Amino acid sequence: MPTLTIVNRAGDETTIDVATGLTVMEAIRDNGFDELLALCGGCCSCATCHVHVDPAFVDKLPKMSVDEDDLLDSSDHRDANSRLSCQIPFTDDLDGLKVTIAEED
Ligand code: FES
Repeated sequence: MPTLTIVNRAGDETTIDVATGLTVMEAIRDNGFDELLALCGGCCSCATCHVHVDPAFVDKLPKMSVDEDDLLDSSDHRDANSRLSCQIPFTDDLDGLKVTIAEED
């Protein structure tokens, strides 16, 4: 099963196995990371699932939609590797992906 490494706001790293069919947000939330609020449940309308993605994987991610881009603009902590984790389906191609939960806005 592909793995996902999550870095929490304290800088602690945890690696989990991810079942296919989940988004990165669902994988993080379902593994008890309550720092990632994901308030809208994945509808791309809250930006509380903001993560910073390991630059090595940026090219493997789906293209960002206009809605995602607009929502990320509302964050004071956006950087070049920011994504909304609910907009990233976790596929085998992303095996080994590392994401850092973004600072709270
Ligand atoms: S969970 Fe709300 S935008 Fe991702």
